[in-house]
Amino acid sequence: MSKKKVFRFPGKEIDVFWDQRLCIHIGECVQAKGDLFVLGRDPWCQPDVTSMESVRQVVDRCPSGALTCGGESGATETPDDENTVSVTCNGPLAVRGDLRIEGSPDDMPGVGFRAALCRCGKSANKPFCDNSHKSAGFEDYGAVGETGDESHDGGGKLTVTAFPDGPLQFSGNLTMLSGTGRKAWQGNKAFLCRCGHSKNKPFCDGSHKGAGFKS
Ligand code: FES
Repeated sequence: MSKKKVFRFPGKEIDVFWDQRLCIHIGECVQAKGDLFVLGRDPWCQPDVTSMESVRQVVDRCPSGALTCGGESGATETPDDENTVSVTCNGPLAVRGDLRIEGSPDDMPGVGFRAALCRCGKSANKPFCDNSHKSAGFEDYGAVGETGDESHDGGGKLTVTAFPDGPLQFSGNLTMLSGTGRKAWQGNKAFLCRCGHSKNKPFCDGSHKGAGFKS
């Protein structure tokens, strides 16, 4: 019998879904003020203890896409107006916006809005982060040395393609934020390192070949 992957927490107005394949335990949900998520409570997520708007706001904080909301009420999520990639310090690429992660399963709707993508090369759940960067001792503060061509005309779909044994290609309007939150790069095409070996992170410089990176 296959292990349950997605857990549903029903509410009168809106349901919350938690996908354990994607959760990297950043804690935005349990640290949020209010009682939507309470560790140790059964069930730990109770949508009816707060307003629908509050449910949406808390779910929207989840950087990995593990949390989504919606359900039979017809309530749905809407993507950010602007597509962004945050190059997190010693961690994954935190992507937000109107996303299409090529190859992601149909039953993983959260990654249509938010995703944490591996950039250390060690995740066992590629292209998604599984926190392997910690045990791997991955270090990169998230500096971004380029500015892009600034060809950027708003939102629209951002497609992410993971090249076999190579980088992540981002196609679509995109703003990149450095590890300190600086708005660093704008454009509509980027190839970002996911092997952990580039000398020009977060961009791919071809080092994946010499490093023998296997995705
Ligand atoms: S994917 Fe890391 S250098 Fe190309």
